[in-house]
Amino acid sequence: MQYLTIALAKGRLAEQAVDLLEAAGTDCRVVKEKSRKLILEDEQAGLRFILAKPADVPTYVDYGAADIGIVGKDTLLEEGRSLYEVLNLGFGSCRMCVCGPQELSGRMDYLPNKRVATKYPRIARAYFESKRRESVEIIRLNGSVELAPLVGLAEVIVDIVESGRTLQENGLVVLETIAQISARLVVNRVSMKMKAERISNLIEAVRSQLNNVPEHSAGKDNL
Ligand code: PRP
Repeated sequence: MQYLTIALAKGRLAEQAVDLLEAAGTDCRVVKEKSRKLILEDEQAGLRFILAKPADVPTYVDYGAADIGIVGKDTLLEEGRSLYEVLNLGFGSCRMCVCGPQELSGRMDYLPNKRVATKYPRIARAYFESKRRESVEIIRLNGSVELAPLVGLAEVIVDIVESGRTLQENGLVVLETIAQISARLVVNRVSMKMKAERISNLIEAVRSQLNNVPEHSAGKDNL
């Protein structure tokens, strides 16, 4: 049997993705076995899971190394790859925001030539240049981005806000919201045609599972 390959974003998203796939009738026992393997195959079911770094999931799907991926909308926006985004899975919900010190609240327009620290340079550039029509200096960081305004590396940051605790504990606030983020199911363009039946069966099973859970609204894109 031809394998169907699903790329999961290693970490918390993968756990929630597996719970959802299982609830939708996909046997995910191979993923749950404790191991450090990065490819997990269920030969009988013709199913293969690959565990990738979240930022790499769109790449595996784009090149067809995986047929399906489950990954955050933040990563999809940042990677900008040409994939079919078929379902909003609801979990992993947070916001992509411009954040900074309270003094800048409502005063962003009065601060020209801002420096913007972020792990998401593409999202930040698109937001400031296309949406706000403002030219900024983007400073790419790899994490703990909230540090940048505290030590004078940047005036503002573009980052994920989930509970808001990191901002609060570092004396920063949300200045503007760029996008609502949550996990999405994406499909490779060729696989969608070549493995149409298996993929659409899986999508429909997941969609109906999401429809059974009140807080989800399957397929509704909130961007
Ligand atoms: C993310 C994000 C924020 C924080 C937001 O960081 O970049 O820093 O979580 O969550 P909160 O609003 O619930 O506090 P992550 O934990 O991924 O670590 P990082 O800073 O190293 O990227």
